[in-house]
Amino acid sequence: MLPWFQNEMFPLYLAPMARVTDIVFRQFCKEQGADVMVTEFVQADALIRNDPKLWETVDFTEAQRPMGVQIFGSNPASMGEAAKLLEERLRPDFIDINFGCPADRVICMDAGSSLLRNPMKVGRITAAVANAVPRTPVTVKIRTGWDDSNIVAKEVGNIVECEGAQALTIHGRTKMQGYSGDANWSIIADVASELNIPVIGNGNICCAQDVIRIRKQTKCAGLMIGRAALGYPWIFREIKHYLEHGFVPDPPSLEERWETIIEYTRRIMARPFRDERHNDLRWMRPKFIALTKAMEGSRRIRGSLGKINQIEDLERVAEEHLENYSCSENYK
Ligand SMILES: Cc1cc2nc3c(=O)[nH]c(=O)nc-3n(C[C@H](O)[C@H](O)[C@H](O)COP(=O)(O)O)c2cc1C
Repeated sequence: MLPWFQNEMFPLYLAPMARVTDIVFRQFCKEQGADVMVTEFVQADALIRNDPKLWETVDFTEAQRPMGVQIFGSNPASMGEAAKLLEERLRPDFIDINFGCPADRVICMDAGSSLLRNPMKVGRITAAVANAVPRTPVTVKIRTGWDDSNIVAKEVGNIVECEGAQALTIHGRTKMQGYSGDANWSIIADVASELNIPVIGNGNICCAQDVIRIRKQTKCAGLMIGRAALGYPWIFREIKHYLEHGFVPDPPSLEERWETIIEYTRRIMARPFRDERHNDLRWMRPKFIALTKAMEGSRRIRGSLGKINQIEDLERVAEEHLENYSCSENYK
């Protein structure tokens, strides 16, 4: 049993999110109470080719453990080889296999959720990875199926359990749903009650009350939070507090939010990125937009964020916003 499920612990995972859950963002979530984290997915073949950008993507700190690295691909042998490289170089606490990504570029290479159309191949890939890294636990992340007529979560769950997976995350949507519509929690509950390995439920968890409700409804051993953390890493602190004390604490003040955004930016800029585009802050705008989306006056902020290049510009936007709004009520 993976240690973070022992003694009836109920871990909260930060969902892997490409271009969002970078090493610095993960650290903020960890500080706010995320128990287990997974890097965004990286292509097995590209890791084997030694693409330095990908090795930066899967980097993590000791403080972030237990930490998983997520890989995707279509070829069992190269998935095994990439897992072995990861085990040797990084010693992650687990290696997670992505069978859920719905993006065209991933489907085209018959990876991610494309493989849900071929459960036997999911099994071969899981077995190849598990055999390649006997010292590292292997876990799997899936969607419920390709579409509503092809729900395979239970079948795939049984196969990966047989082939050596030590936990299964289910995003309760089909490939065809993409990221819209409701997650189907009854499918997740059904699989969780059937399998012997821990099942982590994922999809549409937006607040502490959702966690309590879903925990009561399903036999999930843990839950994974994605987009709700994207602009609000404090969600982990709220959930933990609610689980312990039965009420949601005050949200962070506007000052704390801006401090976090600026600190985030500083730490990101101090990272040894190898990409020229990262010399200014333009590439970070989507992150800033997410982190300021729920603030009062976010439309105006968004306009100002369009013009920022350097950290001083960001500090000016923060100052201006705080001058106008810091007396308002706390809000999420
Ligand atoms: C921007 C973005 C990037 C994502 N990247 C990954 C990824 O790299 N690996 C993965 O398994 N899932 C990825 N996902 C899916 C999330 O991990 C999660 O399963 C999904 O967002 C549903 O959870 P939520 O409703 O809490 O957001 C991504 C989702 C988003 C929104």
